[in-house]
Amino acid sequence: MRWPLPTYVSDITDQYGTRRVNELYRRGTLDDDPPDFPASYDELRAAAHEAMSPEGLAYVHGGAGSDETFERGQDFSAWRIVPRMLRGVESRDLSTTVLGQEFPVPIALTPLGIQSLLHEGAEGATAAATADVGVPMVLSSLSSTPMEAVADALGSTPRWFQFYWSSDERIARSFLTRAENAGYDAIVVTVDAPILGWRERLIERGYYPFLEGDGVANYFSDPAFRDRLDAPPEEDTEAAVEEFLDIFGDASLTWDDLSFIREHTDLPIVVKGILDPQDAELAVEHGVDAIGVSTHGGRQVDGSITAIEALPEIAEAVGDDVDITFDSGVRRAADAYKAIALGADLVMLGRPYAYGLAAGGADGVRTVLQNFLAEFDLTMGLSGREAVTDIGRDAVRHESTLVPTVDRSSRP
Ligand SMILES: Cc1cc2nc3c(=O)[nH]c(=O)nc-3n(C[C@H](O)[C@H](O)[C@H](O)COP(=O)(O)O)c2cc1C
Repeated sequence: MRWPLPTYVSDITDQYGTRRVNELYRRGTLDDDPPDFPASYDELRAAAHEAMSPEGLAYVHGGAGSDETFERGQDFSAWRIVPRMLRGVESRDLSTTVLGQEFPVPIALTPLGIQSLLHEGAEGATAAATADVGVPMVLSSLSSTPMEAVADALGSTPRWFQFYWSSDERIARSFLTRAENAGYDAIVVTVDAPILGWRERLIERGYYPFLEGDGVANYFSDPAFRDRLDAPPEEDTEAAVEEFLDIFGDASLTWDDLSFIREHTDLPIVVKGILDPQDAELAVEHGVDAIGVSTHGGRQVDGSITAIEALPEIAEAVGDDVDITFDSGVRRAADAYKAIALGADLVMLGRPYAYGLAAGGADGVRTVLQNFLAEFDLTMGLSGREAVTDIGRDAVRHESTLVPTVDRSSRP
C-alpha cells in the first residue's frame, strides 16, 4: 500500500464543500477574481467542444450507433435522493475502502485512451491534477503516454492500470509486469470491447486515431512489442502501427481466459463492462476482486441497458463478495451519490474530466475534480449522511415507488 496519504488529501475531508464554495465566493466578490472554468457540466462541455480539434471532438463525443445508450445513460433522474434532517453533519468523511485500500474519496478517474487528442498535456496533465487533488486515476492501455511516465507524474496517488488484451501473449504478459513494476495497485480488465463499437462520428470522418500512431505509447515502448518489429517504431511508424492493429484485442476470449491474468499478476483484478447479474456472478466465480458496472459510456452496444439501470440487480447478485466500481453517465455529484446508494463502492468520472482537460489542461481537470468533490460533500451532508459508508439503499427511492400524482383533469 502506498499510504500514508500526502497532506493535500486530508484537505478533502473536513467540510470540503463548504470551504470550497466559501473560497470561490470570497475570491469572486472580494478580490474580483471569478473562477476560470464553468461549474456546470453543460457549459464546460461547450467550452471543451470549442477548444477541441474536429478529430478530438469526434473521438470523445457521443456513443455507438444512434447515441441512445449514451444519451439515456446520463439520465439518473428515475432515482430520487431522500434527504434526512437534523442528523449532525458537521464532520463529514468522504473516505472509503476499495480493494482493501483506503481511498480519500469514493471517486476516481475512469480510463480514457488517447488523451493527446484532448490536450497536448495528455495523461501527464491529468495525472498532475489528480495528484494535486488526491483522486485515484485509472490509466488506459491506449494512453498517449507510457504507463511508467504517468506513474511518475502521479507520485504517491493510488493508480490502477486498465488492461486491453493483446493476441500476442508475450505483450499481454509484459503489460502486466510493467504495470506492477510501475506501482499500479490493480488491473482493470475491460471486457466490453473485444471489438470496437459502431462509432458514426469517426466513421463519417473516416478517422481512426491509431492509424496516425496516436494512443499506442504503451505498445511502442514495450519490449515484447518491439521484438516483433523489423525496425523500431521511431524509424518505421507505419509498419509499427500495422503490427499494433494486428495484435490489439482478442475477440476469442472467454471467462476462462481470466486465469491468464491471475497467473501473471498478484494485483487485484477488476472486470470492467459488466451489465448482467449473471456475468457479475461469473466474474465472482472466476475469482475477480471487483466488478465494474459500465456501458463504456454508451460507446459499444447502442440500445443497451444503462449502467445505472443495471447496477441495483448486480449489487444484489454479488452482495459483499466483491467491490463494485461504477461509471458511465456520471455528470454531477448527485449521480455519484445515487450510484453509491445503489451499491457502488467507487464511482468513476469520465467525460467531465475529459472536458476539463480539453478546456484547460491540468487546471481544467483540477477544477472539475475540486468542484465535483465539493458538490458531493454538500449533497452528502444535505442528505443527512456524515460519511460515505452511511449512504445506503434507503438514501434513494425509485420513481416507480412514489405515489402517482392525482390527475385532476379526469375528475368529474
Ligand atoms: C474518449 C473515450 C476514451 C475511452 N477509452 C477507454 C479505454 O481506453 N479503455 C477503457 O476501458 N474505457 C475507455 N473508455 C470508456 C471509459 O472508461 C468509461 O467507461 C466511459 O467514459 C464512461 O462514460 P462517461 O464518460 O460518458 O461517463 C473511453 C471513453 C471515452 C469517452
